[in-house]
Amino acid sequence: MSLIRRLHVIFFEPDKRDRTLFPHDVFKGLIVPRAIGWVATMSRAGHLNLAPNSFFNGVSSWPQILVFASESAKDSQTFAEETGEFTSSMATWRLRDKMTLTSAALPRGQSEFEYAGLATAPARIVRPPRVAESPAVLECRVTQVLRLKDLDGNETGASVVFGQVVGIHVEERFVVNGRMDAVAMQAVARCGYDEYTVIDRVFSITRPSSGGSAYGGPRAPVPAQAREGLLGVANK
Ligand SMILES: Cc1cc2nc3c(=O)[nH]c(=O)nc-3n(C[C@H](O)[C@H](O)[C@H](O)COP(=O)(O)O)c2cc1C
Repeated sequence: MSLIRRLHVIFFEPDKRDRTLFPHDVFKGLIVPRAIGWVATMSRAGHLNLAPNSFFNGVSSWPQILVFASESAKDSQTFAEETGEFTSSMATWRLRDKMTLTSAALPRGQSEFEYAGLATAPARIVRPPRVAESPAVLECRVTQVLRLKDLDGNETGASVVFGQVVGIHVEERFVVNGRMDAVAMQAVARCGYDEYTVIDRVFSITRPSSGGSAYGGPRAPVPAQAREGLLGVANK
């Protein structure tokens, strides 16, 4: 007899969800945790906007490119397209309530910084400011904006905004042995529904050698012997 107990797995297609079993959508509860890009933008007219986006991630380590997705034409995406710039501040445990307040749908032109009682600090290269109390902020310039389509080729109304990092701010007290201390920064991330998580524990695992670039920057040229297959190269 097999020792493996057969587990009952529920399968469904997204548009045929059993709403009694799952009153809430399951999708966002399965992509967890999601980093939060707390995106500040400025319109051509100089209006400030700040909003959290958890459809957010880094997608290229060199050049450093990140992405945030807007489910409809919201101010962050509109302003980022208008002026080609944004900052992304790290949301932390201490800032969690204010971060959530900045998701309020305020009239265009009303700053979420003021609404949530958050101070701005100037960015160095781009015009939108950063969240002064945030321990880590990326200054970005927009590289691409994609309108998302569905399987039938219809526009969904959602867009993704790609930005290349042109400046990085980090609070010095969180730099430990040349690394950012994720636990000390207490970054918060989004889970499903109204749930969040905070980084309160990390563990390390040594990777097998790979072509990855652990130290960042442009990739080092691959030595000739490696190209000829004589060496296993960990491009670190
Ligand atoms: C933690 C969190 C994450 C969010 N992530 C997204 C997201 O990835 N995409 C999105 O369109 N809206 C997201 N929202 C909702 C927006 O923040 C909200 O619609 C906001 O009003 C958009 O502001 P804007 O129109 O000023 O850009 C999120 C809200 C919260 C609280």
